[in-house]
Amino acid sequence: MKKGLFITFEGGEASGKTTQIQMLKDYVNTLDNKEDFVFVKEPGGTVLGESIRNLLMHNEIDPPVAKAELFLYCASRVQLVEKVILSALNAGKVVVADRFYDSTIAYQGFARKIFSADEILQLTQMLIGNLKPDLTFYLKISPELAFKRKNPDIPLDRIEKEGLGFHKKVAEGFDYMANLEKDRFCVIDATKSVQEVHKTVIEHINNILY
Ligand code: TMP
Repeated sequence: MKKGLFITFEGGEASGKTTQIQMLKDYVNTLDNKEDFVFVKEPGGTVLGESIRNLLMHNEIDPPVAKAELFLYCASRVQLVEKVILSALNAGKVVVADRFYDSTIAYQGFARKIFSADEILQLTQMLIGNLKPDLTFYLKISPELAFKRKNPDIPLDRIEKEGLGFHKKVAEGFDYMANLEKDRFCVIDATKSVQEVHKTVIEHINNILY
């Protein structure tokens, strides 16, 4: 098995990331080497990161302005990288992250338009150096369709409440990154059945691992 592998899942709202990551966790749990896998989530994954997540997602009293939002995501990321991801990768583990800096480029870059994709990449490099996912699954679906799939009983968070125009820009951001880094990205049609998507994910991971 290859040592230290970094896999990320990316996509807009209701793209099925959470379901796919749960299916991957269930699959990993059947493996003899399940201890070699570490699952993390952004924002979050550390005590500080979880507090930041709360400030970002459910902050009705004093929602962050766009630049504060960008830096809160970055703060959560640096904490996660330095406290969890780097040590796991150095120990030869497979780290699976639910979102990473491609989300910042899509949401804060393309949708909020605070900085360009290039500027956000530069900022990311200043914060986490050359750490880059080896493989990124991008679950691609149009925002129109994705929002139709959302469970209406679950209230929308602060970012989900942004309009369709915002989420279309997010999708443009992911498309841009997938096009820019074709070797790293595995673009999956997220309108396919959950089983089909899962099969593609497992095939790619096994290809790269064994
Ligand atoms: P999720 O855990 O449901 O994917 O929610 C995280 C939310 O935060 C989602 O709306 C995407 C957003 N986000 C950003 O805007 N920028 C980022 O850098 C990250 C990691 C997430």
